[in-house]
Amino acid sequence: MTENVKPAKALVSAKTQELQARRRKAMAGGGLEREKQQKAQGKLLARERIDLLVDEDSFEEVDLLMEKRSSEFGLGGRYLAADGVVTGFARINGRSVCVYSQDFTVMGGSLGLAHAQKICKIMDLAMAAGAPVIGLCDSGGARIQEGVESLGGYAEIFYRNVQASGYVPQISAILGPCAGGAVYSPALTDFVFMIEGTSHMFITGPEVIKSATGESCDFESLGGAKTHSVKSGVCHFVAGSEHDCFRQIRELLEYLPQNCRERPASVMPSDDPARKSRLLDSFTEMDPKKSYKIHDVIWEIADGHQFFEVHRGFARNIVAGFIRLNGETVGVVGNNPAVLSGALDIGASEKGGRFVRFCDAFNIPLLTLVDVPGYWPGLEQEWGGIIRKGAKLLYAYCQATVPKVTVVLRKAYGGAYDVMSSKHIRGDINYAWPSAEIAVMGPQGAVDILFKGEIKASPEPAKARQKLIDDYTQKFVSPYQAAERGYVDEVIAACETRPKLIRAFHFLRGKKVERMEKKHGNIPL
Ligand code: HXC
Repeated sequence: MTENVKPAKALVSAKTQELQARRRKAMAGGGLEREKQQKAQGKLLARERIDLLVDEDSFEEVDLLMEKRSSEFGLGGRYLAADGVVTGFARINGRSVCVYSQDFTVMGGSLGLAHAQKICKIMDLAMAAGAPVIGLCDSGGARIQEGVESLGGYAEIFYRNVQASGYVPQISAILGPCAGGAVYSPALTDFVFMIEGTSHMFITGPEVIKSATGESCDFESLGGAKTHSVKSGVCHFVAGSEHDCFRQIRELLEYLPQNCRERPASVMPSDDPARKSRLLDSFTEMDPKKSYKIHDVIWEIADGHQFFEVHRGFARNIVAGFIRLNGETVGVVGNNPAVLSGALDIGASEKGGRFVRFCDAFNIPLLTLVDVPGYWPGLEQEWGGIIRKGAKLLYAYCQATVPKVTVVLRKAYGGAYDVMSSKHIRGDINYAWPSAEIAVMGPQGAVDILFKGEIKASPEPAKARQKLIDDYTQKFVSPYQAAERGYVDEVIAACETRPKLIRAFHFLRGKKVERMEKKHGNIPL
């Protein structure tokens, strides 16, 4: 009998032991010294990041054992654990996602052929399964020793970013350097997160810039989180730490569907759908020249007063983000009178246009809150291309087929009235508050153009001008001319905005639009 009792270590077969040893080696990253350096920079390790991002114990790694082929330029004798990137699928808030996490401790997270193939495979799996892709980027860019294979690897990723665009949500978190052409993968994704102090994105570094143009800068001023969230608009979300970043990504995903064939998940309503707001009524009594933050209106309307803002620091004259109305995700775009009087400019058009297109691609209904005096004037805007770039928001709204509900709160002047999801470009339900001013332009400007001679010839020009302004205001500066023509479906009391919107979006849930058959439109990019 005793001869048949196997020693305890034989419980794990030799084959399994070999597998375990291979796994251990591949999971060791760049070793303890490199890990220490990573931590000293305030950065987490690639696998720690995934653990913090996804649901506990849900990560299934793919291609752990994949290795580089190249032996050029000193690569021959080197073992690069997991080829510097951890890839796999997991769950976030119970829903499937695909993730890749570049490991800076392994040759600076540089991207060689195997590294790129791993990312491509996980993106292909995401598209097959209809699951969002999240890239955690921390890399010195193309692995120099692998030459054109790394460039080709990047291009394969870019190609997949574009194939996946509008099919599954794509999110990039920049958790270290992201330089050169490598920036174009995040740029092709839907949302870019950066961390204050540790994330840097740029095409050419400070030294190259100095030698090429003589301009001085450091990594932070060139391509840090503040630069890209405020100036360039590359970054949609800034986080104070990696923990904060992963928390924000998890929250963002809650508002999104898994793919373009699904709707965002409904959540249990946390607020009274019939809730009226006296505060909103006070906005209609406000001096039309006074500014206010559009956020105050959005918070009043939203379930639980919660607004998940996108692109908060960039083009603050327009505001975009997600709310819930009676438990359903709604994308909100609103002019923000607190900045540039809420006028549209290049930044606002690009920010709003991209957000509208995201919502349309992923079946997220759109609420548009209008308080816009027009386009922001000036040579900088004209020479900067406001004609071509301003057309982006217009194009995006015209093309969007998701349910679109618009509320004109106050000003809706000129071309900006048309652009902001007006009835004419197929807003489904268009409301206006009694304080709405829908006209070609404001009274002062209109009177000065139309009655220049008459005012000049008058014995009392100031009085004559004021009389004309009052007449114009009486005739045009209201929602009623638009309502009489059916361009506004209903003039509503501001206090009843939330219940009205909930009913309108509920009614529109079944909306279907057949698109004309064509290859694709030609958006003014
Ligand atoms: C190969 C690289 C590498 C790269 C870093 N390493 N970047 N190896 N190819 N692109 C290696 C380093 O040699 C080093 O190896 C290890 O990673 C850590 O790098 P350090 O320089 O010690 O780290 P740090 O001081 O933190 O500096 C990080 C860095 C710097 C700023 C990212 O490494 C750097 O400037 N790297 C090059 C960045 C770059 O120009 N990349 C190409 C961009 S163009 P050892 O052996 O010491 O561990 C590009 C084109 C893409 O990516 C095109 C797509 C179309």
